[in-house]
Amino acid sequence: MSEKQDIYVLGIETSCDETAASVVKNGKDIISNVVASQIESHKRFGGVVPEIASRHHVEQITLVIEEALLQAELGLDDLDAIAVTEGPGLVGALLIGVNAAKALSFAHQIPLVGVHHIAGHIYANRLIGELQFPALALVVSGGHTELVYMKEHGSFDVIGETLDDAAGEAYDKVARTMGLPYPGGPQIDKLAAVGTDSIPLPRAWLEEGSYNFSFSGLKSAVINTLHNASQKNEVIPPEDLAASFQQSVIDVLTAKTSKAAKEYGVKQVLLAGGVAANKGLRAALQQEFSHAGDPELIIPPLSLCTDNAAMIAAAGTVAFEKGIRGSYDMNGQPGLELMSFDRLTL
Ligand code: KG4
Ligand code: ZN
Repeated sequence: MSEKQDIYVLGIETSCDETAASVVKNGKDIISNVVASQIESHKRFGGVVPEIASRHHVEQITLVIEEALLQAELGLDDLDAIAVTEGPGLVGALLIGVNAAKALSFAHQIPLVGVHHIAGHIYANRLIGELQFPALALVVSGGHTELVYMKEHGSFDVIGETLDDAAGEAYDKVARTMGLPYPGGPQIDKLAAVGTDSIPLPRAWLEEGSYNFSFSGLKSAVINTLHNASQKNEVIPPEDLAASFQQSVIDVLTAKTSKAAKEYGVKQVLLAGGVAANKGLRAALQQEFSHAGDPELIIPPLSLCTDNAAMIAAAGTVAFEKGIRGSYDMNGQPGLELMSFDRLTL
Protein backbone atom coordinates (compact mmCIF):
# COMPACT_ATOMS: atom_id res chain seq x y z
CA MET A 1 0.00 0.00 0.00
CA SER A 2 1.42 3.40 -0.93
CA GLU A 3 1.88 5.94 1.86
CA LYS A 4 -0.37 8.96 1.89
CA GLN A 5 1.56 11.93 0.59
CA ASP A 6 2.00 15.05 2.66
CA ILE A 7 -0.22 17.98 1.72
CA TYR A 8 1.31 21.47 1.70
CA VAL A 9 -1.09 24.40 1.65
CA LEU A 10 -0.21 28.08 1.40
CA GLY A 11 -2.66 30.21 3.41
CA ILE A 12 -3.26 33.89 2.67
CA GLU A 13 -5.18 36.27 4.99
CA THR A 14 -5.93 39.95 4.36
CA SER A 15 -9.47 40.42 5.73
CA CYS A 16 -8.68 43.24 8.16
CA ASP A 17 -5.44 44.79 9.37
CA GLU A 18 -2.92 41.95 9.15
CA THR A 19 -1.27 40.84 5.92
CA ALA A 20 -0.42 37.20 6.50
CA ALA A 21 0.89 34.13 4.65
CA SER A 22 1.75 30.69 5.98
CA VAL A 23 2.59 27.19 4.83
CA VAL A 24 0.92 24.35 6.75
CA LYS A 25 1.61 20.61 6.30
CA ASN A 26 -1.29 18.16 6.46
CA GLY A 27 -3.58 20.78 7.98
CA LYS A 28 -1.83 20.71 11.36
CA ASP A 29 1.92 21.39 11.20
CA ILE A 30 3.02 25.00 10.76
CA ILE A 31 6.02 25.14 8.43
CA SER A 32 6.09 28.94 8.26
CA ASN A 33 3.83 31.71 9.58
CA VAL A 34 4.42 35.33 8.57
CA VAL A 35 2.22 38.21 9.81
CA ALA A 36 2.72 41.89 8.92
CA SER A 37 0.58 43.87 11.34
CA GLN A 38 -0.73 47.32 10.45
CA ILE A 39 -1.85 48.18 13.98
CA GLU A 40 0.64 51.05 14.29
CA SER A 41 -0.76 52.76 11.16
CA HIS A 42 -4.37 52.60 12.37
CA LYS A 43 -3.70 53.50 16.01
CA ARG A 44 -3.80 57.24 15.56
CA PHE A 45 -7.27 56.98 13.97
CA GLY A 46 -8.62 54.87 16.85
CA GLY A 47 -9.67 52.02 14.55
CA VAL A 48 -9.04 50.34 11.22
CA VAL A 49 -9.28 52.72 8.24
CA PRO A 50 -10.30 50.55 5.27
CA GLU A 51 -8.45 52.59 2.61
CA ILE A 52 -5.22 52.51 4.59
CA ALA A 53 -5.64 48.78 5.22
CA SER A 54 -5.97 48.07 1.49
CA ARG A 55 -2.93 50.16 0.65
CA HIS A 56 -0.77 48.34 3.21
CA HIS A 57 -1.98 44.96 1.97
CA VAL A 58 -0.95 45.88 -1.58
CA GLU A 59 2.50 46.89 -0.37
CA GLN A 60 3.01 43.84 1.81
CA ILE A 61 1.29 40.90 0.14
CA THR A 62 4.06 39.81 -2.28
CA LEU A 63 6.78 40.22 0.35
CA VAL A 64 4.81 38.29 2.96
CA ILE A 65 4.05 35.39 0.59
CA GLU A 66 7.69 35.24 -0.54
CA GLU A 67 8.85 35.24 3.06
CA ALA A 68 6.43 32.43 3.99
CA LEU A 69 7.75 30.25 1.14
CA LEU A 70 11.37 31.16 1.93
CA GLN A 71 10.99 30.23 5.60
CA ALA A 72 9.26 26.98 4.58
CA GLU A 73 12.07 26.28 2.10
CA LEU A 74 9.46 25.45 -0.51
CA GLY A 75 8.73 26.67 -4.02
CA LEU A 76 5.25 27.39 -5.38
CA ASP A 77 5.39 24.14 -7.32
CA ASP A 78 5.65 22.19 -4.07
CA LEU A 79 2.22 23.42 -3.00
CA ASP A 80 -0.92 21.28 -3.23
CA ALA A 81 -3.30 24.20 -2.81
CA ILE A 82 -3.57 27.91 -2.06
CA ALA A 83 -6.18 28.78 0.58
CA VAL A 84 -7.32 32.38 0.90
CA THR A 85 -9.78 34.21 3.14
CA GLU A 86 -12.77 34.93 0.89
CA GLY A 87 -14.81 36.72 3.62
CA PRO A 88 -16.12 38.16 5.81
CA GLY A 89 -14.05 41.31 6.25
CA LEU A 90 -13.31 44.62 4.56
CA VAL A 91 -13.99 44.18 0.86
CA GLY A 92 -10.99 46.21 -0.34
CA ALA A 93 -8.71 44.32 2.03
CA LEU A 94 -10.09 40.88 1.13
CA LEU A 95 -9.64 41.60 -2.58
CA ILE A 96 -5.87 41.98 -2.24
CA GLY A 97 -5.46 38.48 -0.80
CA VAL A 98 -8.00 36.94 -3.16
CA ASN A 99 -6.34 38.46 -6.24
CA ALA A 100 -2.86 37.41 -5.12
CA ALA A 101 -4.13 33.87 -4.55
CA LYS A 102 -5.91 33.75 -7.91
CA ALA A 103 -2.84 35.05 -9.78
CA LEU A 104 -0.52 32.45 -8.20
CA SER A 105 -3.05 29.70 -8.65
CA PHE A 106 -3.51 30.53 -12.34
CA ALA A 107 0.17 31.07 -13.14
CA HIS A 108 1.32 27.87 -11.42
CA GLN A 109 -1.79 25.73 -11.90
CA ILE A 110 -2.26 25.24 -8.15
CA PRO A 111 -5.79 24.49 -6.86
CA LEU A 112 -7.45 27.49 -5.21
CA VAL A 113 -9.61 27.21 -2.07
CA GLY A 114 -11.73 30.02 -0.57
CA VAL A 115 -11.93 29.98 3.25
CA HIS A 116 -14.39 31.62 5.65
CA HIS A 117 -12.43 33.70 8.16
CA ILE A 118 -14.24 32.16 11.14
CA ALA A 119 -13.65 28.60 9.88
CA GLY A 120 -10.00 29.69 9.92
CA HIS A 121 -10.16 30.96 13.52
CA ILE A 122 -11.76 27.67 14.61
CA TYR A 123 -9.12 25.62 12.76
CA ALA A 124 -6.32 27.47 14.57
CA ASN A 125 -7.09 24.87 17.26
CA ARG A 126 -6.01 22.01 14.98
CA LEU A 127 -2.52 23.53 14.90
CA ILE A 128 -2.34 22.68 18.63
CA GLY A 129 -3.75 19.17 18.68
CA GLU A 130 -5.99 16.84 16.68
CA LEU A 131 -9.66 17.77 16.86
CA GLN A 132 -12.12 15.32 18.33
CA PHE A 133 -15.79 15.39 17.51
CA PRO A 134 -18.35 16.41 18.41
CA ALA A 135 -16.71 19.69 19.34
CA LEU A 136 -17.98 23.11 20.39
CA ALA A 137 -16.15 26.29 19.36
CA LEU A 138 -16.54 29.58 21.18
CA VAL A 139 -15.69 32.19 18.55
CA VAL A 140 -14.97 35.63 19.98
CA SER A 141 -13.45 38.15 17.60
CA GLY A 142 -13.78 41.80 16.61
CA GLY A 143 -16.67 40.98 14.29
CA HIS A 144 -18.15 37.75 15.67
CA THR A 145 -19.36 36.13 18.87
CA GLU A 146 -20.68 32.67 18.17
CA LEU A 147 -21.04 29.21 19.60
CA VAL A 148 -20.44 26.73 16.79
CA TYR A 149 -21.24 23.02 17.08
CA MET A 150 -19.10 20.73 14.92
CA LYS A 151 -20.20 17.16 14.45
CA GLU A 152 -17.21 16.41 12.21
CA HIS A 153 -14.45 18.13 10.22
CA GLY A 154 -15.73 21.04 8.13
CA SER A 155 -19.20 20.94 9.72
CA PHE A 156 -20.35 24.19 11.34
CA ASP A 157 -23.69 24.63 13.07
CA VAL A 158 -24.09 28.06 14.67
CA ILE A 159 -26.14 27.43 17.85
CA GLY A 160 -25.79 30.95 19.25
CA GLU A 161 -24.59 34.35 18.10
CA THR A 162 -24.57 37.96 19.19
CA LEU A 163 -27.71 39.97 18.64
CA ASP A 164 -25.78 43.24 18.55
CA ASP A 165 -22.10 43.97 19.28
CA ALA A 166 -19.42 41.30 19.02
CA ALA A 167 -17.34 40.75 22.18
CA GLY A 168 -14.23 42.33 20.64
CA GLU A 169 -16.27 45.26 19.36
CA ALA A 170 -17.59 45.86 22.91
CA TYR A 171 -14.02 45.73 24.24
CA ASP A 172 -12.84 48.22 21.62
CA LYS A 173 -15.77 50.62 22.15
CA VAL A 174 -15.48 50.56 25.95
CA ALA A 175 -11.72 51.09 25.66
CA ARG A 176 -12.23 54.04 23.36
CA THR A 177 -14.70 55.60 25.85
CA MET A 178 -12.09 55.11 28.56
CA GLY A 179 -9.52 56.92 26.40
CA LEU A 180 -7.39 53.82 25.81
CA PRO A 181 -5.55 53.31 22.50
CA TYR A 182 -6.68 50.95 19.71
CA PRO A 183 -7.04 48.00 19.78
CA GLY A 184 -8.72 48.24 23.15
CA GLY A 185 -9.08 44.55 24.01
CA PRO A 186 -5.49 43.95 25.13
CA GLN A 187 -5.48 47.30 27.02
CA ILE A 188 -8.58 46.41 29.05
CA ASP A 189 -7.18 42.93 29.64
CA LYS A 190 -4.00 44.43 31.14
CA LEU A 191 -5.88 46.92 33.32
CA ALA A 192 -8.37 44.27 34.47
CA ALA A 193 -5.51 42.15 35.78
CA VAL A 194 -4.67 44.83 38.38
CA GLY A 195 -8.24 45.99 39.12
CA THR A 196 -11.13 44.74 41.26
CA ASP A 197 -14.55 43.70 39.99
CA SER A 198 -16.31 46.25 42.22
CA ILE A 199 -18.66 48.17 39.90
CA PRO A 200 -22.07 46.55 39.33
CA LEU A 201 -22.65 45.97 35.62
CA PRO A 202 -25.37 43.93 33.85
CA ARG A 203 -25.05 40.45 32.36
CA ALA A 204 -27.32 39.78 29.40
CA TRP A 205 -28.47 36.17 29.83
CA LEU A 206 -31.38 36.62 27.37
CA GLU A 207 -34.28 34.16 27.39
CA GLU A 208 -33.98 30.80 29.15
CA GLY A 209 -32.00 28.28 27.13
CA SER A 210 -30.75 30.79 24.57
CA TYR A 211 -27.15 30.54 23.41
CA ASN A 212 -27.31 33.99 21.87
CA PHE A 213 -25.33 36.92 23.25
CA SER A 214 -25.84 40.65 23.63
CA PHE A 215 -23.13 43.09 24.65
CA SER A 216 -24.59 46.48 23.72
CA GLY A 217 -26.41 46.89 27.08
CA LEU A 218 -23.19 46.23 28.95
CA LYS A 219 -21.31 48.67 26.74
CA SER A 220 -23.97 51.36 27.39
CA ALA A 221 -23.85 50.66 31.13
CA VAL A 222 -20.09 51.28 31.15
CA ILE A 223 -20.51 54.50 29.16
CA ASN A 224 -23.29 55.66 31.54
CA THR A 225 -21.19 54.83 34.59
CA LEU A 226 -18.34 56.97 33.24
CA HIS A 227 -20.69 59.76 32.23
CA ASN A 228 -22.45 59.88 35.64
CA ALA A 229 -19.14 59.88 37.47
CA SER A 230 -17.76 62.76 35.41
CA GLN A 231 -20.94 64.79 36.07
CA LYS A 232 -20.41 64.32 39.80
CA ASN A 233 -16.70 65.07 39.41
CA GLU A 234 -15.90 61.59 40.64
CA VAL A 235 -13.08 59.47 39.31
CA ILE A 236 -13.64 55.79 38.70
CA PRO A 237 -10.39 53.82 38.87
CA PRO A 238 -9.97 52.63 35.24
CA GLU A 239 -8.55 49.31 36.38
CA ASP A 240 -11.71 48.60 38.45
CA LEU A 241 -13.98 49.55 35.55
CA ALA A 242 -11.91 47.33 33.23
CA ALA A 243 -12.06 44.44 35.71
CA SER A 244 -15.84 44.83 36.19
CA PHE A 245 -16.53 45.04 32.45
CA GLN A 246 -14.27 42.07 31.72
CA GLN A 247 -15.93 39.97 34.43
CA SER A 248 -19.39 40.64 32.95
CA VAL A 249 -18.21 39.49 29.52
CA ILE A 250 -16.42 36.43 30.90
CA ASP A 251 -19.33 35.33 33.13
CA VAL A 252 -21.72 35.18 30.18
CA LEU A 253 -19.27 33.61 27.71
CA THR A 254 -18.17 30.94 30.20
CA ALA A 255 -21.65 30.03 31.46
CA LYS A 256 -23.17 29.71 27.98
CA THR A 257 -20.22 27.72 26.64
CA SER A 258 -20.37 25.37 29.61
CA LYS A 259 -24.12 24.84 29.29
CA ALA A 260 -23.90 24.17 25.54
CA ALA A 261 -20.95 21.80 26.00
CA LYS A 262 -23.06 19.72 28.43
CA GLU A 263 -26.23 19.82 26.38
CA TYR A 264 -24.45 18.76 23.19
CA GLY A 265 -22.17 16.24 24.94
CA VAL A 266 -19.04 17.46 23.17
CA LYS A 267 -15.60 15.89 23.53
CA GLN A 268 -13.72 19.16 23.00
CA VAL A 269 -14.25 22.87 23.53
CA LEU A 270 -12.27 25.09 21.16
CA LEU A 271 -11.56 28.76 21.78
CA ALA A 272 -11.18 30.97 18.71
CA GLY A 273 -10.81 34.59 17.57
CA GLY A 274 -8.91 37.65 18.77
CA VAL A 275 -10.67 37.87 22.15
CA ALA A 276 -9.41 34.33 22.83
CA ALA A 277 -6.14 36.12 23.63
CA ASN A 278 -7.84 37.53 26.74
CA LYS A 279 -6.07 36.29 29.86
CA GLY A 280 -9.16 36.51 32.06
CA LEU A 281 -11.28 34.51 29.60
CA ARG A 282 -8.59 31.87 29.15
CA ALA A 283 -8.27 31.43 32.93
CA ALA A 284 -12.05 31.29 33.47
CA LEU A 285 -12.53 28.62 30.79
CA GLN A 286 -9.60 26.60 32.10
CA GLN A 287 -11.22 26.66 35.53
CA GLU A 288 -14.67 25.80 34.13
CA PHE A 289 -13.40 22.73 32.22
CA SER A 290 -10.94 21.45 34.82
CA HIS A 291 -13.03 18.67 36.37
CA ALA A 292 -12.96 14.95 35.69
CA GLY A 293 -15.34 14.13 32.86
CA ASP A 294 -15.26 17.65 31.43
CA PRO A 295 -14.60 18.03 27.70
CA GLU A 296 -11.00 18.77 26.73
CA LEU A 297 -10.43 22.50 26.37
CA ILE A 298 -8.10 23.65 23.58
CA ILE A 299 -6.82 27.22 23.64
CA PRO A 300 -4.44 28.32 20.90
CA PRO A 301 -1.38 30.39 21.84
CA LEU A 302 -1.86 34.17 21.55
CA SER A 303 -0.19 34.37 18.12
CA LEU A 304 -2.75 31.96 16.66
CA CYS A 305 -5.77 33.68 18.30
CA THR A 306 -5.38 36.97 16.44
CA ASP A 307 -5.53 37.05 12.64
CA ASN A 308 -2.95 34.86 10.90
CA ALA A 309 -2.73 32.75 7.76
CA ALA A 310 -1.79 29.42 9.36
CA MET A 311 -5.39 29.08 10.52
CA ILE A 312 -6.60 29.78 6.95
CA ALA A 313 -4.24 27.12 5.57
CA ALA A 314 -5.43 24.66 8.26
CA ALA A 315 -9.13 25.17 7.40
CA GLY A 316 -8.26 25.30 3.69
CA THR A 317 -6.58 21.89 3.88
CA VAL A 318 -9.77 20.26 5.18
CA ALA A 319 -11.83 22.02 2.50
CA PHE A 320 -9.30 20.94 -0.15
CA GLU A 321 -9.46 17.33 1.04
CA LYS A 322 -13.26 17.49 0.84
CA GLY A 323 -12.97 18.52 -2.82
CA ILE A 324 -13.77 22.21 -2.49
CA ARG A 325 -12.19 24.34 -5.23
CA GLY A 326 -12.44 28.08 -5.80
CA SER A 327 -12.86 29.46 -9.29
CA TYR A 328 -11.16 32.41 -10.95
CA ASP A 329 -14.25 34.55 -10.49
CA MET A 330 -13.77 34.40 -6.69
CA ASN A 331 -14.34 37.79 -5.09
CA GLY A 332 -13.93 39.26 -1.62
CA GLN A 333 -17.26 38.69 0.16
CA PRO A 334 -17.66 41.10 3.12
CA GLY A 335 -20.83 39.38 4.40
CA LEU A 336 -19.95 35.74 3.69
CA GLU A 337 -21.89 33.30 5.88
CA LEU A 338 -20.23 30.40 7.71
CA MET A 339 -21.31 27.22 5.96
CA SER A 340 -20.41 23.57 6.36
CA PHE A 341 -17.97 22.42 3.69
CA ASP A 342 -20.41 19.73 2.52
CA ARG A 343 -22.92 22.40 1.57
CA LEU A 344 -20.25 24.19 -0.49
CA THR A 345 -19.59 21.17 -2.70
CA LEU A 346 -23.27 20.60 -3.57
O1 KG4 B 1 -9.93 37.89 15.39
P1 KG4 B 1 -9.38 39.26 15.38
O2 KG4 B 1 -7.88 39.43 15.33
O3 KG4 B 1 -9.98 40.08 14.19
C1 KG4 B 1 -11.28 39.83 13.75
O4 KG4 B 1 -11.48 38.84 13.02
O5 KG4 B 1 -12.19 40.60 14.19
O6 KG4 B 1 -9.97 39.99 16.67
C2 KG4 B 1 -9.67 41.31 16.97
C3 KG4 B 1 -10.39 41.65 18.26
C4 KG4 B 1 -10.29 43.13 18.61
O7 KG4 B 1 -11.58 43.58 18.97
C5 KG4 B 1 -9.35 43.15 19.82
O8 KG4 B 1 -9.61 44.22 20.71
C6 KG4 B 1 -9.67 41.83 20.45
O9 KG4 B 1 -9.79 40.94 19.36
N1 KG4 B 1 -8.60 41.37 21.35
C7 KG4 B 1 -8.77 41.23 22.68
C8 KG4 B 1 -7.52 40.84 23.21
N2 KG4 B 1 -6.63 40.75 22.17
C9 KG4 B 1 -7.31 41.08 21.03
N3 KG4 B 1 -9.86 41.38 23.44
C10 KG4 B 1 -9.73 41.16 24.76
N4 KG4 B 1 -8.56 40.82 25.35
C11 KG4 B 1 -7.44 40.63 24.62
N5 KG4 B 1 -6.30 40.27 25.22
ZN1 ZN C 1 -10.17 37.43 12.88
